[in-house]
Amino acid sequence: MSIHACIFDLDGVLVDTAKYHFLAWKRLTDQLGIPFTEKDNERLKGVSRMDSLEIILEIGDLKMDPRQKTEYATLKNNWYKDYIGRMTPDEILPGCLEFIKELKLADIKVAIGSSSKNTLMILKQVGIIELFDAIADGNIISKAKPDPEVFIKAANMVGCKPANCIVFEDALAGVEAALNAGMICVGVGSAKVLTKAHFVVSGLNEMTLKKLKSIEKDSRL
Ligand code: BG6
Ligand code: MG
Repeated sequence: MSIHACIFDLDGVLVDTAKYHFLAWKRLTDQLGIPFTEKDNERLKGVSRMDSLEIILEIGDLKMDPRQKTEYATLKNNWYKDYIGRMTPDEILPGCLEFIKELKLADIKVAIGSSSKNTLMILKQVGIIELFDAIADGNIISKAKPDPEVFIKAANMVGCKPANCIVFEDALAGVEAALNAGMICVGVGSAKVLTKAHFVVSGLNEMTLKKLKSIEKDSRL
């Protein structure tokens, strides 16, 4: 098999943190008097912290200077960190640990490719940081998904060529980033939404090494 590495997005693929992002943004939007629903929160998946704030300000038709933006993004992040600081290993999404173990036994590298600057904190909090051969996160990139930077960096860190990597992603911007990197992409979520992915599963509990091999084969046809 020519797959040498699997690169996982974090939020929405390995752990369900969207609910904590929502609670923290909701607290901020309530304070600012901006209407903000769970449906609006969907637009923030895979989007960087500052770009998320821009979307929220657009919803509320509100203008802010750069200093205020930084202040409010920091406030939101402090509330978010309060939530993720209480996460437990039970919040690792079903099937993740089993699939990653199978990959390691097959000598396939496992890496993280996430836009989140809180990646290390979350991985430590749920006790899985040791599983990864490399971690590329929001702190080491200058361009957000759909730019391929985070996935290219993850591939470089594990010494694999993009063509030998498979990305697992739950956000549209992330699927595009993987394709822009020249990697195979497995969407995690709804096939109706993640239409550009080579293959879609509803969760990593649907993944096995055998399936990985067949996805690889099909995507090369
Ligand atoms: C992504 C999330 O993984 O990380 C986004 O899907 C989030 O919702 C982004 O905005 C940045 O996260 P953080 O933790 O750096 O604010
Ligand atoms: Mg995600």
